[in-house]
Amino acid sequence: MRVCLMVMSALLGVVHGVVVLKEASYLRLPNRNGQYVVNSRTARESAYDDTRSYLYVVGRDTAMLHVISLANPADPQEVYTHNFDTAADGRPLDVELCRASGVTPTLAITFDGQDSVTFEGHLVLYNLFESNTDTLTPLNPTDPRIIVGAHPDNMKFTSDCRRLVVSNEGEPRVVEGTFYDPEGTVSVITFSTTPGAIPVVTTIDFKKFDDPNELIPLLDQGVRYWLRRDPNDATKIIQFSQNVEPEYVAISPSNGFAYITLQENNAMARVDLENAVITSIYPMGNKSWESLSIDASDRDNGIVMASRKIRSLYQPDKVVFFTWTDNIPYLVTTDEGRPTNIPGVSFQDYSRATSLTWNVDDSVLDSQLNSNPDLGRLYVSNVDGFDVTPNVPYAFGGRGFSIWNTQSMTRTWESGDELERYSRQYYPDTFNGNCASFSQTPVQEMDARSTWMGPEPNSVAVGNFNGKSVMVIGSGRNGMLYVYSLQPTVNNPAPEFQSVHRAGAIDATWQTLYAREDMGDAIISDIKFSSVGTPLVIVTSEASGSIGVYTLADETWPPRTLDDHSLEDSQE
Ligand SMILES: *[C@@H]1O[C@H](CO)[C@@H](O)[C@H](O)[C@H]1NC(C)=O
Repeated sequence: MRVCLMVMSALLGVVHGVVVLKEASYLRLPNRNGQYVVNSRTARESAYDDTRSYLYVVGRDTAMLHVISLANPADPQEVYTHNFDTAADGRPLDVELCRASGVTPTLAITFDGQDSVTFEGHLVLYNLFESNTDTLTPLNPTDPRIIVGAHPDNMKFTSDCRRLVVSNEGEPRVVEGTFYDPEGTVSVITFSTTPGAIPVVTTIDFKKFDDPNELIPLLDQGVRYWLRRDPNDATKIIQFSQNVEPEYVAISPSNGFAYITLQENNAMARVDLENAVITSIYPMGNKSWESLSIDASDRDNGIVMASRKIRSLYQPDKVVFFTWTDNIPYLVTTDEGRPTNIPGVSFQDYSRATSLTWNVDDSVLDSQLNSNPDLGRLYVSNVDGFDVTPNVPYAFGGRGFSIWNTQSMTRTWESGDELERYSRQYYPDTFNGNCASFSQTPVQEMDARSTWMGPEPNSVAVGNFNGKSVMVIGSGRNGMLYVYSLQPTVNNPAPEFQSVHRAGAIDATWQTLYAREDMGDAIISDIKFSSVGTPLVIVTSEASGSIGVYTLADETWPPRTLDDHSLEDSQE
């Protein structure tokens, strides 16, 4: 019978000894009035100090900082809360921290300035908390503000804490009826080794790429320049240096370079930090769905995955480095996708496939593009692929993640259709689910994102567990956390699927689940992995305004369910 069970296990695809996430604790963060309200967006970005076990969380919409002690990961304690003054301080966008020998332990918070046409963005450096009685104190109380660029959405310290790199996204916007597209820039802040000395700030623009000799080769390689005229006044040119939108920063292991995703532009910039110059812009490319499967419709009666003769733009969001046994620094990108509209003007770079006029040389594809259960409902670019005949439908996002060798700057691996397939297999009730209508249940919002970017992976963290490199990929909308391991046995790092986890219940509306503290990780915006002491994975989510804390384990997975049991029983 044992042999029979083992054979059955193999037939059922049960894997033994894989890395799984275990829910250690879950904490909702209150809003400025101390109340718990669904979708208050109290949690957006986080930073974890594994020396003192403090987690710092900022919420943009609430303009708050929360400091949480994870000394006991099973029982997180909020030790400090700060409400920023939105008029005086601005709104916090990102939080990072750094501890290294010979450097003052530092917390950094970036802020969007007041909503004026100067689009001032800044950051403030604070002392790190060393105990539960500490309060938020600037490192330089007389002149705390360091001016950077417009909308400093993300930042990273070098591992020696000598530099801080800030991506200033400079998103287009309308202020009092006038359209503005601030430049996208990168600020490199270099700290002096002399205590108390003023840091040197260099803000680098992308103007050299406005030169057609630089720009045209990039566009030929697929870099997107998706807004070229003021939508309100076609005589006004928007330069590439304005259209470029630096999103998310990764620092190379040598601390010499920053790699910054330009998500909307489907590109990545490489910045030489010593010389403060952008050395290159790399195209992120697109993928074919001809030999993969995709669910592209919310009118197809649930989960219907099929191969399609379309392509999609990778458009990565978050990006992190890891080093492999070959000592080559690799990058992981979460290929989320980013269709764009600009509030206040009639511009969008996407349309439903059925609303566009196609000139494809394939009659099956042509009818699918006009059929709602097939491709008609899919949001595709109304810009890309229309300059060629026959034209090519481009959807948004790779619906997965990629590994890049940064020496050759080539994509050496990508996850194909795995994320969608594993969620179909293990969490079909929330497959490609949304979290947008809080009076609906997660199950009612199942399949709603199939027409957009499907599983929409938007966050990633890499760490070590049990001698393995482990990466956790977050599916932004439906709260799924995919665990992959990197086994040091292959030449090129090839992530190997371990498990997928979704916290929270699905049997009630989102707002009821929120009140029950059972909403899970809804609209994940950040993941942190601490490999110090007991490895922890910390998930920050906006709609649930929550922190999900996980430990890792090597276990049989999936766990035996009643169904497996009855199947086995019936075989005995
Ligand atoms: C998509 O990739 C193909 C193959 O690399 C390339 O020929 C094509 O120009 C790309 N399309 C876009 C819109 O970048």
